[in-house]
Amino acid sequence: MKTITTACVNHKGGVAKTTSLLNLAAGIARLHGKKVCIIDADPQANTTMAAFGEEMASLSTEVLLESVLQDCMQDKPLDLKPQKWLEKVDILPASLDLAATEVVMNTTPGREFLFREIIKVLVENYEYILIDCPPSLGIITQNALMASDFVIIPTDGNYFAMKGIEKIHYIISLLRRKLGAQVRILGYFMTRFNAKRKLDADIRESLKEALGEGMFETTIRNNVALGEAQYNAQSIFDYAPSSNGAEDYRKLTEEFVGRVKRMNKQNTGK
Ligand SMILES: Nc1ncnc2c1ncn2[C@@H]1O[C@H](COP(=O)(O)OP(=O)(O)OP(=O)(O)O)[C@@H](O)[C@H]1O
Ligand SMILES: [Mg+2]
Repeated sequence: MKTITTACVNHKGGVAKTTSLLNLAAGIARLHGKKVCIIDADPQANTTMAAFGEEMASLSTEVLLESVLQDCMQDKPLDLKPQKWLEKVDILPASLDLAATEVVMNTTPGREFLFREIIKVLVENYEYILIDCPPSLGIITQNALMASDFVIIPTDGNYFAMKGIEKIHYIISLLRRKLGAQVRILGYFMTRFNAKRKLDADIRESLKEALGEGMFETTIRNNVALGEAQYNAQSIFDYAPSSNGAEDYRKLTEEFVGRVKRMNKQNTGK
């Protein structure tokens, strides 16, 4: 199978982009036995912190995404060293210094195509690549969209959720028309869902109405174990295998893999 690259995007902060990618990666590796690499493309470095905890401080600078991007901008050969998190799950880590590199990226020729260079190297070793984007639609998220086959969009029960999604659609359409992006929307899913809150149920219904088949069947419920798992540098499947969080991310993994297969078939006409 060709490597599938997926960006996780929403410029709204705190909608569980990082939580979802960490557990989706763990789910794909555990339930499907595939090799996965997560790229931590967020200058907050939350994926790196959640995966490596205290050990993050001992990662050498040369393995970090910002160093790889510096090489990329200087047209040097890329030497990538993703770090092992779990069995079959590696992470291309970042540190807070990625923020400074992002500033330089903004004035670099070919600025939207840097991640494509990185993905070209990673496809040799992984079946799935997942990109954790920052809460912004700036140059890093645009790079991720230019380099991806698919995008997944988590959203919470916020009143303005649909407005945010419309903005993401707009950026994707610009990247397609102006720069030839090939990225397709794999789907949207609701996170941090609180069944006791009427607003959450109402917003889920209105998102379903507006986005139709695009909405995943799976909804990720509010579950404190998800935060605790991150604090302990574990996936939800290791930390609390019988929690609601584990059940929901198991479902999300199956739906994600099913959608990828279906959309790939549609694309090749098979
Ligand atoms: N289903 C859930 N139930 C309870 N807490 C959750 C859930 N999902 C995520 N969280 C918590 O919500 C917070 C934000 O989640 P996360 O960091 O994954 O969001 P994000 O979209 O990546 O944020 P940012 O935009 O800042 O990168 C974290 O503290 C996380 O542990
Ligand atoms: Mg995040």
